[in-house]
Amino acid sequence: MTRFTVNGRAVDTAVAPTTRLSAALRDDLGLTGTKVGCNAGDCGACTILLDGAPVCSCLMAVGQAEGAKITTIEGLHADGTIARLQDSFLAHGAAQCGICTPGMLVSASALLAANPAPDRAAVEDALGGVLCRCTGYNKIIDAVLALSGPVAAAVTPAAGANVGSAIRHLDGQPKVDGTLCYGADRVPADALAVRVIRCPHHHARFVIGDKSGFVAATPGIHAVLDAGDIPGRNCFGVIPPFADQPVFAEKTALYRGDAVAAIVGDAAVVAAFDEADFPISWDPLETMLTPDAALAATAPRLHDNRAGNILVRGYVECGDPDRALAGAAHRVEIETSTPFIEHAYIEPEAGYAQREGNRLVIYGCTQAAQMDRESLADIMGLDLEAIRVMPSACGGGFGSKLDVSFQPYVALAAWMLGRPARICYSRSESMRASTKRHPSSIRLTVGADETGRISGFVFDGVFNTGAYASWGPTVANRVPIHACGPYFTPDYRANSVAVHTNAPPAGAFRGFGVPQSAVAQELAYDRLADNLGMDRLAFRRLNALKNDMPTVTGQVFASGVGIDDCLAALEGRWHDALQAAETFNKTAK
Ligand code: FES
Ligand code: FES
Repeated sequence: MTRFTVNGRAVDTAVAPTTRLSAALRDDLGLTGTKVGCNAGDCGACTILLDGAPVCSCLMAVGQAEGAKITTIEGLHADGTIARLQDSFLAHGAAQCGICTPGMLVSASALLAANPAPDRAAVEDALGGVLCRCTGYNKIIDAVLALSGPVAAAVTPAAGANVGSAIRHLDGQPKVDGTLCYGADRVPADALAVRVIRCPHHHARFVIGDKSGFVAATPGIHAVLDAGDIPGRNCFGVIPPFADQPVFAEKTALYRGDAVAAIVGDAAVVAAFDEADFPISWDPLETMLTPDAALAATAPRLHDNRAGNILVRGYVECGDPDRALAGAAHRVEIETSTPFIEHAYIEPEAGYAQREGNRLVIYGCTQAAQMDRESLADIMGLDLEAIRVMPSACGGGFGSKLDVSFQPYVALAAWMLGRPARICYSRSESMRASTKRHPSSIRLTVGADETGRISGFVFDGVFNTGAYASWGPTVANRVPIHACGPYFTPDYRANSVAVHTNAPPAGAFRGFGVPQSAVAQELAYDRLADNLGMDRLAFRRLNALKNDMPTVTGQVFASGVGIDDCLAALEGRWHDALQAAETFNKTAK
């Protein structure tokens, strides 16, 4: 028995002393305001106060808390300690998805208890152990600093006058008091746990051994699920004509992380299960991790219906770009490449499913409840009306939670076993299984005339779309529409291609490929402006689209084209920065 106090209440707990304190607080005491993002001391979402000092509760064993005074977000909220801080977070927009907010508030409360008027450096230092993927930190830091002065009042929206105003989120209060429920925060009492078995190779054939013998020989494991158990279609994808990802791979896995089976059982057994004990044999195959490898004439085809491993091509052309480039006074040719980027939302994929007669209820984090519903109906072979998706709060998604992830596994387990089934990905599983930003390789040639007007633009982009389609068609098709940026480009050609490889599926991530192409385009414009001897901002303002100018697809906006206003707003700071750089360079000499 371990004894401590939590939020002023004496607790005697019989959980194993080696249990993570975060797990004991959440699972045994129901204090789910303490979040878990990594279970490794990296994200700080699990921060609590231990005898007044902030600590990561995922790194503490229950036994280490013997005799301690523990305070969680619930305790700080209940006694009003952080009321002004919470109000300031709401006023500054410092709680966006909100998954990091309890950790931020707990850490800030410790700082303010010791130093009621901290400076910016002190706030940055105190919050440095808590990661936020949404806010960029400044709003959080400003919210804490504002405690030394008056906190901004709530803004009442007035039609037509709200651009730039900080409006309090309608769902803000539960984010700052720790009561908002995310995917892992609600678990039916008798839920079984599900764990997905994933391919450890980039590309491999596999054979699953004796499932029933394994279940019989493993107390606490109730079932093994694989492709043969799918009652409907073993396939999902966000764009139905391109859907190609199996819930469970059949015979061949296409990337390191591809799901091949799942075990369902008692939570403690599933959590402690060593995947080396799962009956499966692997036969690694030739691996193609780059588009160059996948486009080689001898490369194996990953999908039978996609010749050359090409998922899709995109193309936009207007005017005569070759003639314009040939006549340009200045030309710049560049090549850029950008890597895979992990979304790294603080909340890993989590949720549960429950069978209610001939209906399935799925609860958990998602960005696309209706698309999940359609996919699940297809996978489960059920009518749409038989699927109910209840989205939890979403602790960051940035595009990746538009794709189905955990939902089919819990749905299948709950349907087959007649008991609720839950899952919560570990941080490493989330990173292995989820989609990424598409890596890109871009070649770009841009010209300008003597006055600095863009004269010819030719773009070729190759995007590594990974093993399955996900949002690859959208990325490959959208990039040619946007590759010139918000600039008037009358002579233009852009080609793009999304290529399958044995890398993780690349999908949606804020901008659908546009950030990758903007790296190339903006870099080229800097060089063109330099070649012209022209101020870089002036070059952009000269070429910025205005009302009534056609885009490269011929679209004409009669009003609302705001890029030049945005660039004009930068003038003061831009010239200050140039001045500062000039002064620095002179001093450095
Ligand atoms: S630091 Fe504990 S969950 Fe990330
Ligand atoms: S608000 Fe910080 S991670 Fe979303």
